[in-house]
Amino acid sequence: MSVAIVRSLSTLRSVVTRWKRAGETVAVVPTMGALHAGHLSLVRTGRKLADRLVVTLFVNPKQFNNPDDLANYPRTENDDAVKLGPLGVDVLYAPDATTMYPEGFATTVSVTGVSEGLCGAHRPGHFDGVATVVTKLLMQTGADIALFGEKDFQQLHVIRRLVRDLDIPVEIRTCPTVREPDGLALSSRNARLTDEQRKTANALAQILYASANRLTAGEETSAVLPGARAALLKAGFASVEYLELRAENDLRPLERADVLSRLLAAVWLNDVRLIDNMPVQPST
Ligand code: PAF
Repeated sequence: MSVAIVRSLSTLRSVVTRWKRAGETVAVVPTMGALHAGHLSLVRTGRKLADRLVVTLFVNPKQFNNPDDLANYPRTENDDAVKLGPLGVDVLYAPDATTMYPEGFATTVSVTGVSEGLCGAHRPGHFDGVATVVTKLLMQTGADIALFGEKDFQQLHVIRRLVRDLDIPVEIRTCPTVREPDGLALSSRNARLTDEQRKTANALAQILYASANRLTAGEETSAVLPGARAALLKAGFASVEYLELRAENDLRPLERADVLSRLLAAVWLNDVRLIDNMPVQPST
């Protein structure tokens, strides 16, 4: 059995109001669909944390800086609803673009600081689009708890910042990245990889993992990252957009892992962009 789909904001609001009047708490898992095991782990966690669970599905045009990426983004709503069926999701909220951005829509939520650099430097407007839609989804669902995956690590920082700055009464929870057995981080974009590219793709996690170990052992980024970049290109990636060590708590750039950090990367395989990140324990 698949989950009940709600498309109108007024229906969503009346359902959530009924729950809240009954004293129930609400968790939300925002998604753009094409659900994989990473999304489903967020859903399972959300199910345990609140009385009611809403999953949202909206392929947000405002966060795509590349029209081809938006056009090619996988859309699998029926399959998604079936996958959510057995997981105790109360509502799949799947608004259309005019519900989210009606005629005359003129507001952008823009987060400075943590949105700069990394993906922000290479995808102009992306985090404004994410911040705007996430703000709307949090307000629309009235959720007490919202869950996001660690794969989009910079996005997490942007969302935490906007929630604090705009006094949105929601607790942000995170789940670790879910990986294929060979290490590849699950992503809806993996569906676009050819068999050949899929074989290359696992090198990203392996090179990040090996580099993270060297950084934890006390080596500086200048000793580790140029070789890691070269190894990524040798493995078959067309280009390395960024490969950087940043502090886990505020994303400041680091030369060595003297605090808990993240090694973050974005790479291209033909026209498919993959991102990933690994925690780096502080070197002693
Ligand atoms: O991570 C995603 O899937 C999207 O960026 C999000 C948070 C659902 C906003 O569209």
